Amino acid sequence: QRPLRRLLSCPGTVTADLRREEQSSGSAETGSEDRTPKKRFSEVQNERREQAQRTVLIHCPNKINEKKFLKFLSQHGPINNHFFYESFGLHAVVEFCQKESVTSLQNITRTPSLGPEAAIPFKSRYFNLKLRNSLNQTSELSSIQCSNQSSPSSKKLYQLLCCAESVDDQLNTLLREFQLTDENTRLRYLTCSLIEDVAAAYFPGCAVRPFGSSVNSFGKLGCDLDMFLDLDEIGKFTAQKTSGNFLMEFQVKNVPSERVATQKILSVIGECLDQFGPGCAGVQRILNARCPLVRFSHQASGFQCDLTTNNRIALKSSELLYMYGALDSRVRALVFSVRCWARAHSLTSSIPGAWITNFSLTMMVIFFLQRRSPPILPTLDYLKTLADAEDKCIIEGHNCTFVRDLNRIKPSGNTETLELLLKEFFEYFGNFAFNKNSINIRQGREQNKPESSPLHIQNPFETSLNISKNVSQSQLQKFVDLARESAWIFHQEGKDRPSPSSNQPWGLAALLLPSVANNVSLSKKKKKPPSERIKNLLDSIKSSGSENSTATNGR
Ligand code: CTP
Ligand code: MG
Repeated sequence: QRPLRRLLSCPGTVTADLRREEQSSGSAETGSEDRTPKKRFSEVQNERREQAQRTVLIHCPNKINEKKFLKFLSQHGPINNHFFYESFGLHAVVEFCQKESVTSLQNITRTPSLGPEAAIPFKSRYFNLKLRNSLNQTSELSSIQCSNQSSPSSKKLYQLLCCAESVDDQLNTLLREFQLTDENTRLRYLTCSLIEDVAAAYFPGCAVRPFGSSVNSFGKLGCDLDMFLDLDEIGKFTAQKTSGNFLMEFQVKNVPSERVATQKILSVIGECLDQFGPGCAGVQRILNARCPLVRFSHQASGFQCDLTTNNRIALKSSELLYMYGALDSRVRALVFSVRCWARAHSLTSSIPGAWITNFSLTMMVIFFLQRRSPPILPTLDYLKTLADAEDKCIIEGHNCTFVRDLNRIKPSGNTETLELLLKEFFEYFGNFAFNKNSINIRQGREQNKPESSPLHIQNPFETSLNISKNVSQSQLQKFVDLARESAWIFHQEGKDRPSPSSNQPWGLAALLLPSVANNVSLSKKKKKPPSERIKNLLDSIKSSGSENSTATNGR
């Protein structure tokens, strides 16, 4: 597929394109390779956004002659990159070298006539390709190799983990299998760009930006697509234009509060996506939530989308997490494993409720890594001290300043293995005083809880908010129990790892089995009551801790 993919590339951009591909499929975009200069979050966002604006989405017949398809499209200008995937039929993502090619393609595209039904003539960048003389072409049609957009099945993951060479290898394998691919990332930015076209009909000059796990480097294949409708660009533009003695303002309608404005904007955009948005289905307007949103399924890409506005701080948290993910290659491997572990044991859920969220788990891993000796990650306060004037950022009165150039942060001298870190993560949180302490990545140390929620994790920027306010005592207890049991299994395993030929789950594979509790009981003749079992477990962990000189400074 590769030579064909290059066939119609524009000559000047081939090497740039290759470089970009290497970077995004590998580590440079997230910066885990120490020698490569690490890209800033804003650079990645801007490059991807610009790329998406030159890209179109095409629903294709199931069989197609790829070469002729590309030749047909290249009449509108050279193509830089393309791939196919399945979501309610075969789709192609085609990136042109120039934006003008998209307009040229739109100009020769017609609005379908559907017999008794009528089409709403919305001219988007989402097309439908039909074969003209399908009979003549049948012999040339072939099945297309599709790029995979979903995470591996539990069975496949389990096999891969069992064949790994070490626990560290297992964690890295899991990361490799679950992380967003270059294609999936392109599709996420393209989807935002398509939604932006709809929103721009009301708000010219707006931007729809992905945030959350789609961009913070902790996204798993299949994760939702969080979008932020950014109307500030419009505000900024007008601010720059004012000069002299006069000040021009737009005539606007006023509403009682920022929240009402947000609700009204999302309400019309939701309506618009529902009525006219090609590929959008199941639009729900959830406007009374703390952070009002429009939730919909973008069937064309297969993403579940959450669109918010007036949510700039969340974009800043995404940038912060991206930085943490890029600072040390162990961070992402650990976060992915903890997220998968939590999912495997139903600690997290795709349904909102009293469960721990992936965002909270990520914060817990970051906090844990700040507590190592020497620390693997710096505190947010330290990142603030490295900031220069340009990094200064105040949003709605909250100080969101931190250094944004990753290359200015010294790598950690800590050389602990992933195996040790994962085991210690479970021990650390299995023993954490959740009843009195709060997790705080700004200071990198426990604080007294300011309120009585079972789990308190301070929002790094809106410091009066608890990001895990929704978590119930019983869900927290389940987390603690599973963490203890996992730490114990790890400890037991260290002694007698099964031989590779035995096909027995070991290391991370054993921890991801549907129920750690079952696992524990399998290796015990008689099941003890939970409290006693946990007490014994802690004792056993403590004694193993004294044999092991790498204690955390947090305990
Ligand atoms: N967010 C927040 N406070 C919360 C929940 C979410 O600030 N209580 C912000 C975070 O920046 C988070 C983003 O909203 O990354 C998106 O939230 P969510 O989709 O719940 O989390 P993700 O990090 O995207 O993880 P997932 O893969 O589960 O979607
Ligand atoms: Mg998300």
